[in-house]
Amino acid sequence: MDSFRIAGGVPLHGEVRISGAKNSALPALAACLLTDESVILHRIPSVRDIATMQSLLEYTGAAISTCSDNALRVDASRLDRPEAPYDVVKTMRASSLVLGPLVARTGRARVSMPGGCAIGARPINLHVAALEQLGATIEQSHGYVEAIAPHGLQGGHVHFDRITVTGTEDVLMAAVLAKGETVIRNAAREPEVKDLADLLVKMGAKIEGAGTSIIRIQGVERLHGARHAIIPDRIETGTFALAAAMTHGELTIADCFPEHIAALVFKMEQAGADIEQLDSHTLRVRCARRPKSIDMATEEYPGFATDLQAQYMAWMSTAQGISFITETIFENRFMHVLELARLGANIRTEGRQAIVAGENELTGAQVIASDLRASASLVLAALVARGETIIDRVYHMDRGYERIEEKLAGVGAKIERIQ
Ligand code: EPU
Repeated sequence: MDSFRIAGGVPLHGEVRISGAKNSALPALAACLLTDESVILHRIPSVRDIATMQSLLEYTGAAISTCSDNALRVDASRLDRPEAPYDVVKTMRASSLVLGPLVARTGRARVSMPGGCAIGARPINLHVAALEQLGATIEQSHGYVEAIAPHGLQGGHVHFDRITVTGTEDVLMAAVLAKGETVIRNAAREPEVKDLADLLVKMGAKIEGAGTSIIRIQGVERLHGARHAIIPDRIETGTFALAAAMTHGELTIADCFPEHIAALVFKMEQAGADIEQLDSHTLRVRCARRPKSIDMATEEYPGFATDLQAQYMAWMSTAQGISFITETIFENRFMHVLELARLGANIRTEGRQAIVAGENELTGAQVIASDLRASASLVLAALVARGETIIDRVYHMDRGYERIEEKLAGVGAKIERIQ
């Protein structure tokens, strides 16, 4: 199992380029199952979750080839096995994204139910209820969800009890091939949902309102091939913005959509970072001094992303004063707290709130990554900690950050992968 060895204390300087968004690329790949024509997706990040999704599509019968750097061609003309087996789903919960497309295209889908996960229970009950609204008959047994719609799906009204990103994406993909109109209310407004809708429209779908909380879909009989470039990864963008500020360096962050991290930028500026938008795709981030403690609560988009909570907490653990960080999306997303404490952070949790007392200095230690974004927070803390930090289980990081150690080393970080 790989680890990172990081020598802290080097301010980061230079330019980094942001990769395509993992959480946009995953539903985009699932959407390829909706047509028997080829879809070409550009800017697919080379990360482990994407490789897992590729294996899953291949399992169903789709053929995938690489066209050029970071571009994939998916041909799902043959779908003889509309299934997502446990072995795949257990390593990547986003596998449930194939439920909607498979039942819409083939009239049946059998997808393993995800089990528990490091950051919360993460059930898929809302996906299931929404697909039932579109006329799918759903049974759950032996750890699998089986959806059947032998005569195709029917448009319907879906009102999500709570906002779900992949739930919205799942039902959106199902609705594009359903007969008649579907209206999704309390839909997720995340940029990844909008990006998926943009791809589906290129494939011939009729969708209005994606990116708002009410999405209207007019079902069409079939979709066709298309070409689409995935949006930049806003979580990677935010992670590098925090890395620049935390190390008291200066980074130019290119190929990003600054608007997508507006909530983070607002907090960072309040805390004392200097952030400039150089053009519509480039940010410059610097922070010469220790930040002020600024409270934060995660929220659905356009609120502060839960996927940046751990990284923000790492920064706040070096701030002047005390901050309250509240996690409202997942019930157990504080696994990084104890590991950050090993690096000298002073954090106490009470239920869904973490109380972070900023420390003058963090110190290197051996720590374990527990999930994807927790690993990123440990990397950030290690970049400023005095001495050496070893982070074990970086396979979590490899699930979602493309060439992270190369990118960090390229702007001056002393980081190496050890086996
Ligand atoms: N929820 C339910 N029932 C459902 C679905 C969700 O109770 O059927 C609950 C969840 O347990 C959670 C909340 O609703 O408490 C929101 O979960 P959501 O469904 O929005 O999360 P997700 O779609 O499973 C995506 C991202 C996550 C990100 C969340 C929140 C992908 C592939 N994953 O997950 O990304 O944290 O939205 O923004 O898009 C990550 O990249 O590290 C990551 C975990």
